[in-house]
Amino acid sequence: MKKVYIDTMGCQMNKSDTERMLGMLSCLDYEETKEPKEADLLIVNTCSIRQLSEDKAFSMLGLWGKWKSEGKKIKIGLCGCVAQQKAEKTFRRAPYVDFVLGTHKIYSLPEIIKKVESGKRVCECAETNATEDDKAAEFPIHRVKSVNAWIPITEGCNNFCTYCIVPYTRGRERSRQPEIIIKEVKDALNQGFKEITLLGQNVDSYGKDFKDKNYRLAQLLRDINSIEGQFRIRFVTSYPTDITDELIETAVELDKVCEYFHIPMQSGSSVVLKAMNRRYDRETYKKIVEKVRKMVPDVTITSDFIAGFPGETEEQFEETLSAIDEFELDYSNTAAYSPREKTVAAKWVDKYIDEDVKTERLARLNEKVRENCLKSNLKFVGREMEILVENFENHKGQNVITGRARNNKIVHVPCEKDLTGEFVNVKITGAKTWYLQGELL
Ligand code: SAH
Ligand code: SF4
Ligand code: F3S
Repeated sequence: MKKVYIDTMGCQMNKSDTERMLGMLSCLDYEETKEPKEADLLIVNTCSIRQLSEDKAFSMLGLWGKWKSEGKKIKIGLCGCVAQQKAEKTFRRAPYVDFVLGTHKIYSLPEIIKKVESGKRVCECAETNATEDDKAAEFPIHRVKSVNAWIPITEGCNNFCTYCIVPYTRGRERSRQPEIIIKEVKDALNQGFKEITLLGQNVDSYGKDFKDKNYRLAQLLRDINSIEGQFRIRFVTSYPTDITDELIETAVELDKVCEYFHIPMQSGSSVVLKAMNRRYDRETYKKIVEKVRKMVPDVTITSDFIAGFPGETEEQFEETLSAIDEFELDYSNTAAYSPREKTVAAKWVDKYIDEDVKTERLARLNEKVRENCLKSNLKFVGREMEILVENFENHKGQNVITGRARNNKIVHVPCEKDLTGEFVNVKITGAKTWYLQGELL
């Protein structure tokens, strides 16, 4: 067996692609290694959401290029969102790279590897804007987690938020066929997975491109929910104004669908939201969150926010902080604005916010997120919850299982037995900023 090392950056979509690449590579007699120095084939699966992630990818390639120049017999590949964008230009910047594979045709990997092994250099970054459903079933998927399986349902995005590179790196939005999704769900369940997370940049758009206008996310959820067995279903990410009442009602009605919505707001200021080309204002977002909270008991709602978008004033930034409080957002991912090539906002150079102001706003934003996360966790102390155990480890001399509640809260529970993959009822005894503490019932 030859060995492959893949460094995966970015979102769950990239992690899912990595699992598919490892599956394809297993058919070519490559097994995964976690140790880059042992590998015959080194791949970095990249993210270009921020400059920092792109820079990390190239410094990784630089290190591997050095090993190659020192005589190590290795092949090096660049995949993912940076690859899609840089294409052939990569070879000029990093001449030691053997192949560049974009996001549209990941199933060409086996052919590419054969060419690379025969000494060729390959770039496959054509935009197809089609799903590769016909190819997906031909290869196994080498899943990296043991309990939770990620399954993409849509690829790409049509929203063109002015800061975001995803529509350029992943192309137009397209939905995968329900049959292939359901097959992948059943395969994962047969392999023992207990939680299915349906992925898409905007999951509520699922099926918009189908002839059958009635087959949308709600219907897909119903079909997956009807599969026998005890397992959970999640879906991310939701675009605020695309969440339909039917979807919320379906999520409540179906026993396997968890009480968890990830609804990125991005900014608390209506003026900034408009400049971001988000199709809602603060009031509209508020109404949506209120509706979800009212209809879904015990729901957790999480968000994403950007600090220091071009032109953002101190007052507008403070509206982001107050939104987190006012809408009681349980947790949020945060980032300082990073200008991205090709995007509209990157051209507003005269409105860029100074780096030190961005850093300071990000720190305040993170503090607000921490504060609200603790507040949200404290609400659950004394409650009984069902957790799905994901991990068992010795923590400071004590054996502990870690699982997630249906609403995605992380719970640590002292336990002598490895219950990974099991559903366990616990009583919540304490709350920390990032997790709950519990005891077995
Ligand atoms: N489809 C999802 C987000 C995908 S990108 C949505 O619409 O919400 C993940 C997150 O990265 C975004 O929610 C945003 O908060 C952040 N992000 C995207 N572009 C960024 C940029 N140029 N600078 C900083 N953060 C960015
Ligand atoms: Fe990016 Fe906006 Fe699409 Fe999300 S909805 S991926 S932020 S363009
Ligand atoms: Fe990054 Fe591409 Fe995902 S840019 S966030 S890896 S879609």
